[in-house]
Amino acid sequence: MIDNWHDAIVDLAYLATAIMFIIGLKYLSTPKLARRGNQLATVGMIVAVLATLVSRELRVTENGQSETSWTNIGLILLALAVGALLSVVAAQRVKMTAMPQMVAIFCGVGGATVALTSVAEFMHKEDLGRGMIVLTLLGAVIGSIAFTGSMVAFGKLQELISGRPVTFPNQTMANGILFGGIAALGAAVVLLQDGSTAKLFVWILFIAALIFGAAIVLPIGGADMPVVIAILNSLTGVAAALAGLIMDNMAMVIAGALVGASGAYLTLLMAKAMNRSVTNILFGAFGGGGETASGGAGGEQKPVKEASVDDAAVALAYATNVIVVPGYGLAVAQAQHAVRELADELEERGVNVKYAIHPVAGRMPGHMNVLLAEANVPYEQLYDMEQINDEFAQADVALVIGANDVTNPAARTDKTSPIFGMPILNVDQARQIYVLKRSMKSGFAGIENELFHDQKTSMVFGDAKATLSAMVSAVKEN
Ligand code: TAP
Repeated sequence: MIDNWHDAIVDLAYLATAIMFIIGLKYLSTPKLARRGNQLATVGMIVAVLATLVSRELRVTENGQSETSWTNIGLILLALAVGALLSVVAAQRVKMTAMPQMVAIFCGVGGATVALTSVAEFMHKEDLGRGMIVLTLLGAVIGSIAFTGSMVAFGKLQELISGRPVTFPNQTMANGILFGGIAALGAAVVLLQDGSTAKLFVWILFIAALIFGAAIVLPIGGADMPVVIAILNSLTGVAAALAGLIMDNMAMVIAGALVGASGAYLTLLMAKAMNRSVTNILFGAFGGGGETASGGAGGEQKPVKEASVDDAAVALAYATNVIVVPGYGLAVAQAQHAVRELADELEERGVNVKYAIHPVAGRMPGHMNVLLAEANVPYEQLYDMEQINDEFAQADVALVIGANDVTNPAARTDKTSPIFGMPILNVDQARQIYVLKRSMKSGFAGIENELFHDQKTSMVFGDAKATLSAMVSAVKEN
């Protein structure tokens, strides 16, 4: 009777966790509520951990008696303390531009945890049954792939290994054979069910899956890593859900399923916003470090109009409507505070300032929103692409700050362009355009941007932060 009550309370706690996770996720989709969403999901996670700590699954059974193992609880608390300490320090120190790397590490350790748990479960439990063996093997394989895949993604983003695609002849075939080997070993283990041969096969399968994870991410270009990380994130979620089923922990199943589904959805959204298929990202050659490529295809020099900081400041100061278009360069220059200062100065003069946010501006989802929120830019001034695209025609000035691909009209007109079909911001429709960047170098896609040669466009060369700070002073003087 007492045990029934105990189980019911633990189940209720898991249900509360699920509700908090779902509402938390929902809140994350609005910048205003995102912080609260994070806090709510954190409370959900704390409830889930506490419920697991007091659950009956954690007790050991000896001679028909089940009792709490304080050694186990002690070890779990120690692991929690070490993990919490490391993550708090890392979260406080990480730079906004290094966030994708941080997410890669989180995915990686999540995958490794599931893989190790699954292998341990197989080694220590007898009579698992074929259904449970399949789940355990899937947990081990998916978790291992997520671990090494994420570590390679981390290495590429952190530039510890080459960001360029690492390829060799017959690579796809070699990967296919490796995958076939993993599947065959898995099938053999399911048939054998138990015994030393099955255990040996599980160890080989575990190592093969680790190699496979690294092998599939190595040929992908560094610039495609954010999408790859979303895919790995989704895989980690699926692996965690499987581990939840193996360990009969409902909170883990729900959390894993939510991570799996949101990761998959994010992957599709990013691919759609770049007008590329997920298979093209995984198996295509695009994104192999385009940032180093320079503009001016074919080497021909097209005319470019250059403007001084003062010219741009005068145009801005006497405008009625200004639309700011931030891009990856804003993040590199860490110019978010400077742009806020400039916008404040302009607004004081009665200029109407809005920010146009492209869904894949920057290098990770919500990159621009997070940066601008850090500088306390009011949420009301941020507009999604669909909301603002029709307003460019009425804008006196479009101020493009370190954005390139997301403004490139070739996406509309040039069928041969790699970004053809990608929805872009209608910057070219503004009356006057000022582009702040350091050179004529291309952006992520490694292609030339016709916008920079437009009659209405003036380039203001230099680091965005320095240029914007100089502009604030120049506007003040006008
Ligand atoms: P990009 O097209 O990558 O262009 C960024 C520009 O910023 C560069 O041309 C660079 O020119 C300039 N820049 C760099 N550092 C600067 C600095 N310190 N000061 C001033 N300018 C600087 O950026 P975007 O327009 O934001 O487009 C994003 C691209 O990334 C898209 O192609 C998108 O598909 C891709 N992508 C996005 C995501 C997500 S989820 N956001 C994920 C994967 C890929 P200079 O070198 O001449 O300064």
